[in-house]
Amino acid sequence: MDTEKLYDVNADKWARREPSSLSDFTGRPPVFELCGDVAGQTVLDLGAGEGYCSRELARRGAARVIGVELSGEMVASARRQDEADGYGLDFRQGDATQPVSVDDQSMDLVVAVFLYNYLTVDQMRRSFAEVHRVLRPGGRFVFSVPHPALGFIRTTHAPPFYFDVRGRGYFSGVDERFPGEIARRDGTLLPVQMVHKTFADYFDGLREAGFRALPDIKELGVTAEHLALDPEFFGPVADIPLHLGVRIVRT
Ligand SMILES: C[S@@+](CC[C@H](N)C(=O)[O-])C[C@H]1O[C@@H](n2cnc3c(N)ncnc32)[C@H](O)[C@@H]1O
Repeated sequence: MDTEKLYDVNADKWARREPSSLSDFTGRPPVFELCGDVAGQTVLDLGAGEGYCSRELARRGAARVIGVELSGEMVASARRQDEADGYGLDFRQGDATQPVSVDDQSMDLVVAVFLYNYLTVDQMRRSFAEVHRVLRPGGRFVFSVPHPALGFIRTTHAPPFYFDVRGRGYFSGVDERFPGEIARRDGTLLPVQMVHKTFADYFDGLREAGFRALPDIKELGVTAEHLALDPEFFGPVADIPLHLGVRIVRT
């Protein structure tokens, strides 16, 4: 199923007002930490989904948030929730592999939370170049992806999170689209996909886009707090690298 349809048909399952899926606990809070102080800032949220991260950044004081999202149903859900909240967020249906209609060097922060696992290496590079264009000097780029090794380490195809790499290898599988699922704590399964990239693909891509600073990298997984909260849910993926969080400053 193509990405737009995947999210159009599952938009209702993604809509949430509080942490719901595994990555809402293991992936997104560390990403918000990587964003740092956003008070008064202008933010671009690529692959904004139903607006969960945009809303959180607004709640933390961002002055303006523009969300770009491929799926019309996800955009509609984001707009509905924002009407209830009254943050006045700017959700636009669009493709993050194409030029974004914002001015050069106009953003303090660009976030892309679990977007690049839907893009090929070439598409990701185009997006990185666009991110570099729109960030002001000193602005930050923060993104998260499933950990590149996850599907090759966790070969059990069971909740709460897996990708089925179909017997392909870490290097030979680059740019292949692998299906997976991530669970909500209420047991609902959300279908997800990973267009596989190696660690080096991400960091070569950043350099080619013009980023020069050393990135901050977090290899994210289940913590002791997660296990204390819900051992049955988090236990099966304890001690496995689940996500990669990256922050890099545009010099
Ligand atoms: C796993 S969801 C994450 C959504 C949101 N960032 C969050 O953290 O809740 C990935 C989102 O990326 C969107 N997406 C995938 N490819 C895209 C593209 N080329 N342009 C814009 N959005 C895209 C999907 O439609 C989906 O809503």
